[in-house]
Amino acid sequence: MEKPRLCTATMKFVSVPKHIEHFSKFSPSPLSMKQFLDFGSINACEKTSFVFLRQELPVRLSNIMKEINLLPDKLLTTQPVKMVQSWYIQSLIEILEFLDKNPDDYKVLGEFVDALVTIRNRHNDVVPTMAQGIIEYKETFPHDAVTNQNIQYFLDRFYMSRISIRMLINQHTLIFDGSANPVHPNTIGSIDPLCQVGDVVQDAFHSAKMLCDQYYLCSPDLILQEMNKKNLPISIVYVPSHLYHMLFELFKNAMRATIETHENSNNLPPIQVMVSLGGEDMSIKVSDKGGGVPFRRIENLFSYMYSTAPAPQMGEHTRPPLAGFGYGLPISRLYAKYFQGDLQLYSMEGHGTDAVIYLKALSTDSIERLPVYNKTALKNYKVSQEADDWCIPSKEPLDLSNYKVAK
Ligand SMILES: Nc1ncnc2c1ncn2[C@@H]1O[C@H](COP(=O)(O)OP(=O)(O)OP(=O)(O)O)[C@@H](O)[C@H]1O
Ligand SMILES: [Mg+2]
Repeated sequence: MEKPRLCTATMKFVSVPKHIEHFSKFSPSPLSMKQFLDFGSINACEKTSFVFLRQELPVRLSNIMKEINLLPDKLLTTQPVKMVQSWYIQSLIEILEFLDKNPDDYKVLGEFVDALVTIRNRHNDVVPTMAQGIIEYKETFPHDAVTNQNIQYFLDRFYMSRISIRMLINQHTLIFDGSANPVHPNTIGSIDPLCQVGDVVQDAFHSAKMLCDQYYLCSPDLILQEMNKKNLPISIVYVPSHLYHMLFELFKNAMRATIETHENSNNLPPIQVMVSLGGEDMSIKVSDKGGGVPFRRIENLFSYMYSTAPAPQMGEHTRPPLAGFGYGLPISRLYAKYFQGDLQLYSMEGHGTDAVIYLKALSTDSIERLPVYNKTALKNYKVSQEADDWCIPSKEPLDLSNYKVAK
């Protein structure tokens, strides 16, 4: 009897694990800001970018897909996580179609841009969908400390990988779609070689202020100070949308804290921003007088499993909340880390909080920071809950009369 023949689509699907295995053996290649700019310079070559991406995108996708597969079944089998996984598989298949295509054929190059746009759109809702998966899992297994630790490790890497994949896709589609950006003619893809930090601070502040006014019917003011030896506005080579994202999140938090702490006062203390440029770092400090956070809780604020705000409802098309999934800080820190920077919170409970964004002042230091799937990564998914090697302080007062002191 003749065997049933598999259709092409099914065959492609079946061979996916083999491709993931193959491409995950390569380490992702981090690009420097300079390399990003070169891809978009006057002699930018679409063909070179195409040949690079049809290898690099499967490598980045496969590296992180290996890690998705290591997630505990309890999480992996939730509907939202299954959906995210299927998007990754579909996108990998679509890029692999270009492996044997001719880079000299301009029709192929056009199809590649279209494919990238489709992929980017498919992955638009990865963060809220993944968050939904985590919420479902958390509701079912509220006391699973081991998985919590693994989820934090995974999500930091997963979202960082996503930021990097979107960066590659955005650069290629923006540079090679044939039309210059009329609003920002000097940007190269999404990178502004002369990103005016003060302007981005103002933009982000005003967006947060509008949201805050809608929500609380008032908002604090901004005091912006720039520290630069040359007395010129500070600029760096950077992705303005990334900087905007971080500042917007910090401002929303600072405004919420300020208003909730000064509910009954007529005068809201302003939010102060200091931008400073040194030889190595460009730092931005956002200071509020919103009452601060206890020191013990600071690390929790970067957890994907933690927010003091009630979780927003999925699919709710009301105005965007001032506080949502609790992803504001962790994702902003990833954006800062993506080009070798960082984001830290220094708080004084009873007073307020300083949030500092550290970025590299020199574009030669701004190099992508990417997760790589290897034995060390694998080990991190095997962490089990062992006994703490520090004593847990007892809540009960100790009755010292029972203890005899040896003489
Ligand atoms: N400047 C601040 N002052 C006081 N508390 C803060 C400040 N910034 C953050 N927090 C606390 O940290 C928590 C986590 O902040 P984060 O921005 O990550 O999430 P969120 O604001 O709850 O939700 P969203 O995802 O919408 O940002 C907040 O819920 C808040 O309790
Ligand atoms: Mg927030």
